[in-house]
Amino acid sequence: MPTTNLQQGLEILYSREQIAARVEEIGAQISSDLKGEKIVLIGVLKGAAIFLSDLARAIDVDATFDFVAVSSYGKGQRSSGAVKLIKDLDESIEGKNVLLVEDILDTGLTLAFLRKLFMQHHPKSLRIAALLDKPSRRIEKIDADYVGFSIPNLFVIGYGMDYAERYRNLADICLMQPDHPE
Ligand code: IMP
Repeated sequence: MPTTNLQQGLEILYSREQIAARVEEIGAQISSDLKGEKIVLIGVLKGAAIFLSDLARAIDVDATFDFVAVSSYGKGQRSSGAVKLIKDLDESIEGKNVLLVEDILDTGLTLAFLRKLFMQHHPKSLRIAALLDKPSRRIEKIDADYVGFSIPNLFVIGYGMDYAERYRNLADICLMQPDHPE
């Protein structure tokens, strides 16, 4: 497969094949855990959009989608710390099995905020799927029920994840070097 222009000079951390294989495994696990149940997949925009679309097709359970958006990293690699809901759920989650789908579990601030918010709506169950987990960065105590890959403190891009809104459309998960030209 030839290197694309967008991907030129970027180091691949997980290839599209590795991601696809892991997403299939997570999907199978979720299907077995929620066998016979209905589920609502809630994606956190925008980073989780690609993961959710692949994961949804790997889950053999009656599923609907919803999306929320929260304030995020902005233009750089640093978090502002504060989490704010920018786009709320479209449908009530009361009494439903919720799977919160996120690209990266980093400090945990975003998912801790969303979990607390969603629990106030009394779902039947609430699980978290995170494609990547950076446990060493955690500020809020929170774990995902399903994790694609656990990684050290690296800044990654691709497969939905951005640097200043770019690179989301890379098919592989790549490393963003601190000195990479913008
Ligand atoms: P948390 O609230 O610190 O857990 O941050 C979660 C969000 O930060 C993720 O959904 C991403 O949008 C963003 N983020 C954290 N690490 C990275 C990264 O390495 N690359 C791109 N975005 C990241």
